[in-house]
Amino acid sequence: MRYQGREVDIEGRVRLVMESALTARDRVGVQDFVLLENYTSEAAFIENLRRRLRENLVYTYIGSVLVSVNPYKDLEIYSKQQMERYRGVCFYDIAPHIYALSDNAYRALRTQRKDQCILISGESGAGKTEACKKILLYYTVTCPTNDDFAAIGSRLLQSNQVLEAFGNAKTLRNDNASRFGKYMDVQFDFKGAPVGAHILDYLLEKSRVVHQNHGERNFHIFYQLLDGGDDNLLNTLDLQRNPQNYQYLVKGNCPRLSSVSDKNNWKVVMKALSVIGFTEKEVENLLNIIAGVLHLGNVQFGEGEEGETYITTETQMSNLAKLLGVDGLALREALTHRKLTANAEEMISPLNFEQAESVRDALAKAVYGRTFTWLVQKINELLAPKDVLNYNRKSCCVIGLLDIYGFEVLHHNSFEQFCINYCNEKLHQLFIDLTLKSEQEDYETEGITWEMVKYFDNKIICDLIEEKHKGIISILDEECLGPGETWDASFLEKLEDTLSDHPHFVTHKSANGKTRRVMSKEEFRLLHYAGEVNYDVNSFLDKNRDMLNWNLKEVMCQSDNPILRHSFRTGEGIYHKGPEMVATKFKNDLKKLVEILKSKQPSYVRCIKPNDAKQPERFDEVLVRHQVKYLGLGETVRVRRAGFAYRRTFEAFLQRYKPLCPETWPNWYGSLEDGVSILVNHLGYKPEEYKLGRSKIFIRFHKTLFITEDALEAKRPDMALALQTSWRGYRERSKYQRIRHAVIVIQSAWRGMKARRRAKRRRQAAELIRRFIKGFIYRHEEYCAENKYFLDHIRYSFLKNLRKNLPETVLDKSWPTAPPLLAEASDHLRRLHMRNMVRKYCRRVQPEWKKQMVHKVVASELFKDQKDSYPQSVGRLFLDSRLEQEQISLKVIQTLGNDKVQYGVPVIKYDRRGFKPRPRQLLLTNTFAVLVERTKIKQRIDYAALTGISLSSLRDGMVVLHLPSDDIKQKGDVVLHCNHVIELVTKLSMMATKVNYVNISPGSIKFTVARGKQGVIDFVRGSELKVSKGKRGHLLVTSPRIDNT
Ligand SMILES: Nc1ncnc2c1ncn2[C@@H]1O[C@H](COP(=O)(O)OP(=O)(O)OP(=O)(O)O)[C@@H](O)[C@H]1O
Ligand SMILES: [Mg+2]
Repeated sequence: MRYQGREVDIEGRVRLVMESALTARDRVGVQDFVLLENYTSEAAFIENLRRRLRENLVYTYIGSVLVSVNPYKDLEIYSKQQMERYRGVCFYDIAPHIYALSDNAYRALRTQRKDQCILISGESGAGKTEACKKILLYYTVTCPTNDDFAAIGSRLLQSNQVLEAFGNAKTLRNDNASRFGKYMDVQFDFKGAPVGAHILDYLLEKSRVVHQNHGERNFHIFYQLLDGGDDNLLNTLDLQRNPQNYQYLVKGNCPRLSSVSDKNNWKVVMKALSVIGFTEKEVENLLNIIAGVLHLGNVQFGEGEEGETYITTETQMSNLAKLLGVDGLALREALTHRKLTANAEEMISPLNFEQAESVRDALAKAVYGRTFTWLVQKINELLAPKDVLNYNRKSCCVIGLLDIYGFEVLHHNSFEQFCINYCNEKLHQLFIDLTLKSEQEDYETEGITWEMVKYFDNKIICDLIEEKHKGIISILDEECLGPGETWDASFLEKLEDTLSDHPHFVTHKSANGKTRRVMSKEEFRLLHYAGEVNYDVNSFLDKNRDMLNWNLKEVMCQSDNPILRHSFRTGEGIYHKGPEMVATKFKNDLKKLVEILKSKQPSYVRCIKPNDAKQPERFDEVLVRHQVKYLGLGETVRVRRAGFAYRRTFEAFLQRYKPLCPETWPNWYGSLEDGVSILVNHLGYKPEEYKLGRSKIFIRFHKTLFITEDALEAKRPDMALALQTSWRGYRERSKYQRIRHAVIVIQSAWRGMKARRRAKRRRQAAELIRRFIKGFIYRHEEYCAENKYFLDHIRYSFLKNLRKNLPETVLDKSWPTAPPLLAEASDHLRRLHMRNMVRKYCRRVQPEWKKQMVHKVVASELFKDQKDSYPQSVGRLFLDSRLEQEQISLKVIQTLGNDKVQYGVPVIKYDRRGFKPRPRQLLLTNTFAVLVERTKIKQRIDYAALTGISLSSLRDGMVVLHLPSDDIKQKGDVVLHCNHVIELVTKLSMMATKVNYVNISPGSIKFTVARGKQGVIDFVRGSELKVSKGKRGHLLVTSPRIDNT
């Protein structure tokens, strides 16, 4: 298995495949001082440094501390390829480099999610600022980028350019000496991409604005502006290109630098300002102030005859007022007078010549100093992570970079050097605390056999400076705040009184003869960890007070320039009471800084300056030895060599590496010590590689740890998988539990609802039954509350039932039986329904059918219950005619003429005598009927003459048409037999309007034969229809019985 370029065996051990890199390690000297054979020898240490520097190997380790020697020449070791080489590679597997340290800190930040800091120390010119820039460059190039902060890397780098222009200057020791302290937090998001930065600045050496030692320069920006600014800009600012024209730039008599081009740097700075995000207006305001300071330096004073001071440089004044955006007159007044308040009364007192000059310089320092503070604040605003929502402080980590002015010993040392060197003392103390002291204490408390390494603890010097009441700063403050006039000399006296016994404090008085010769009476000497420094007390009090006259502050507060207005309004303000002294503020700031640094995991870069001449290839052994000594590098080597490279509490160690051993993964329930023992045994640590203390494990070599760390790295995919699996399992389980719970909730709610509904229904049903039973009991009572429901229900049910069972035809006579209550209503309804049905029926009836119906009604009236064959006829339709058109002879039709045949039917006519049957057609017209024998009309019967129509009550078809016996045209009544006798008689009687003439005789029919002679037809019931002659000349008709049909 391969992982990140390394070969990993099954047990997760990593065997580095970068053997080539290991062998490529430089063979010059040792790359880690810990490996020096003669590690206790200072000479061997220095020789190693010298040999390596000769081969341009500027970096060497002491364990995890990086020692860097300033090569004073550009080396080809900072390219992008080099950065890639160091990225993600173990610290010790590759040649020492500032990139290796940077990468190590970054990896620790990513893996341990712990804030880191890199402390860069060394004396002025040793290469701290350069190292800091290299680290930043490494992060901006190699770290992943966050889309929202894509440009942050270049802005971080550019901010350095700007701050260097305004805060660095050439000193005798360094052409680009930092004149302020800088601590920069680079903020990384959870993905490891830089997202912002925050800078803390410490005590700018403001005195440089108005004075420079010989061979030194003011801050770079002044020279850059004069050299690089185009003619137009200089005209606008009323500046001349020659720096020698400005009093604030001539003191050091060093206008140009051979090593750098102010012109080029000007362009770089201007570009940097715009890249960081400064607006054109802000840059303009900034430059107005810079030019204003230069003009202020040129303001000259004259002394009047009465000792009054006046300004002699009028044009300077007006330029100055214009550039600073203040009222010229007020400024002039404030530069030559002091405003005092006594007993709530304001008094103006003129300043003498010296006072005026010092007020002018104080103003210049204040303006520049506050502008610098504004600049840092503004850069912080612009570099702050913009997306506050996405920038979550908890998930983000920072790497702090500390680049502060180095230890400084000048020919003439003042308050600034005092502060700078005090700062270096503090940082050295921190270094001692975190490396030498705490490490050795740790071994002791953990019970590791340990021979103490002696080192110089500079706490005594720090106390000398900062101790409350007794320390130099306290005495200085006391002098500044003390009543009455105090002088620098009295401050020195007080120091002498209080501190003369201190082993690290010397004054002219307390010094021995040799020292006295190199000390003036106005100096005191501190024996710093890094060497002895004489401090001139002159102006100590002034610089510590850092006072500016009220009236000057008031003028500046009203400036048109927003930077000045803002700078003078905030901070101490005009009416600030009890101002904090500079040294005390610095002391407090340093205290906070130390706290910040202590809260982070530190890495150290110790810078060494090989010579004072800023020359490459020169190795000043004395100088280097001195630095090696005071930086405590020898002690560091010894402690490292004797000690252990790494220590962790059992808990933390086990927590981190437990995945590497099956017995400790995923959880170890035994004692922590046992857990760690099992783990290291499994990892194959040799006994000399580690020791177990009381609560910590100590690992001697970094390499052991790195191999373990690499194994962990290789194990991570498996761990991730295991975590993913269990997380997914957990997630799915919880999801299932949630769903299950939800289902149960829904089910129980639903069941509850159902049960409630059921109970409600049951209740209602019981109630109903109760009402029913009650109603039933009271059903015969008057309609009352008890029976109301029952009766209503009865009614309702009847009506509902009725609705379903209504008769559908008029013939259907069924009707549901109504309860007694509704008997009347039921009748009504029945009638109504019937009427309605009839009405509907009638509406539907066609004329044809109506005619049929009329006939049937008449037939009913005539024959119902009268004649046996009637019921049979009811269901049969009456036809328009029983004869087809063609069955009727044309001749007959012609004979009839206009009298249209309305109905025709075949009949059998029985002769009146002898009763001989003769087939005939009986044709009915509107006014008469005719009997036709084929083509011949045999007899015409006028309806008007018809006196009766007789039929039997039986099922025969006999009909007798009675005619008047006196009608000679007629030969008596007509006896006919017709198969459709009911239809015939109905139609005939209706056409002849002789319905009332129809007689139905039960036994016999008498008829007239001729002229008064009577014939009789007897009807009897028999098996079948038969017409025959009966007794006595009667005609006997046998009709079939009903049951025969
Ligand atoms: N790694 C390096 N490679 C090449 N030149 C370097 C390197 N480090 C430092 N220098 C040179 O040394 C000079 C001084 O370095 P730098 O400004 O970093 O010193 P410093 O320690 O910050 O001093 P100070 O305390 O005065 O600010 C640089 O201007 C540069 O010319
Ligand atoms: Mg510096």
